[in-house]
Amino acid sequence: MNQPYELTTFSHEINNSLTLIYGQLQYIENTKEELKKDKHWKQMKEDFSSLFDLIRQVLTPSAHAASAAMEPQDLIGIFREVRSSWAYRLNRENIGFYIQANPPGPYYVYGSRSKLLQMFHNLISNGVKAIEQKKGPAKSPNITIHLSQEQGHIVLNISDTGIGMTKEQQTRAFYRGVSFLPKGNGIGLSVVHEIAQEMHIKIHMDSAINQGTTFTLVFPAREHTKQRPV
Ligand SMILES: Nc1ncnc2c1ncn2[C@@H]1O[C@H](COP(=O)(O)OP(=O)(O)O)[C@@H](O)[C@H]1O
Ligand SMILES: [Mg+2]
Repeated sequence: MNQPYELTTFSHEINNSLTLIYGQLQYIENTKEELKKDKHWKQMKEDFSSLFDLIRQVLTPSAHAASAAMEPQDLIGIFREVRSSWAYRLNRENIGFYIQANPPGPYYVYGSRSKLLQMFHNLISNGVKAIEQKKGPAKSPNITIHLSQEQGHIVLNISDTGIGMTKEQQTRAFYRGVSFLPKGNGIGLSVVHEIAQEMHIKIHMDSAINQGTTFTLVFPAREHTKQRPV
């Protein structure tokens, strides 16, 4: 997944354009009430969202080649950024997004900001979709980010109150091309896995049907990352 400078710039441009187009679509919809009921319009917006999702999953959502550089990254700051990118969808679906840290932090990890963002966007995208899939009146659906320290390692939990996965689904979810969603492409988690390997992050998944899912990421101890930059 090493992306040359051009691709990083290119993906940023695409992201920007799509954001602008989406803004225009929202504007048009707000000025023409009848569009909200038009099934072709609705379908077009859904297809557009899927495309947006795909771009986010495979391309680095970052402006600067510098963000691919290995540097200390503040995880709480990164999650605030992720939360604001998802604000529209979270609001629309009434999903709470909580960032908790105990001890309070800061939580610095050594790595590439763009890769971390890409990994987290994929996990949050799945969490949001899992919540949307859950039928019936869900009580306060939410995504919770929890940070802690264990024996020199930063431990990050990303939990959602979505539909969860069966044991069988859990064993295959990380494979490329495996999706259990009608419009899924099965790329997201394989990208997460790839980036985690590159950054020596251990990933563990825990899920229960109709309860939700938690991804646990254990970051390498500081000494380790210093000796072996990836
Ligand atoms: N947080 C989650 N909650 C429930 N199911 C999940 C979650 N994350 C991933 N999955 C399941 O794993 C599958 C693979 O995920 P992913 O590789 O991101 O592909 P996609 O999102 O395109 O389906 C998804 O189709 C979904 O069924
Ligand atoms: Mg996905």
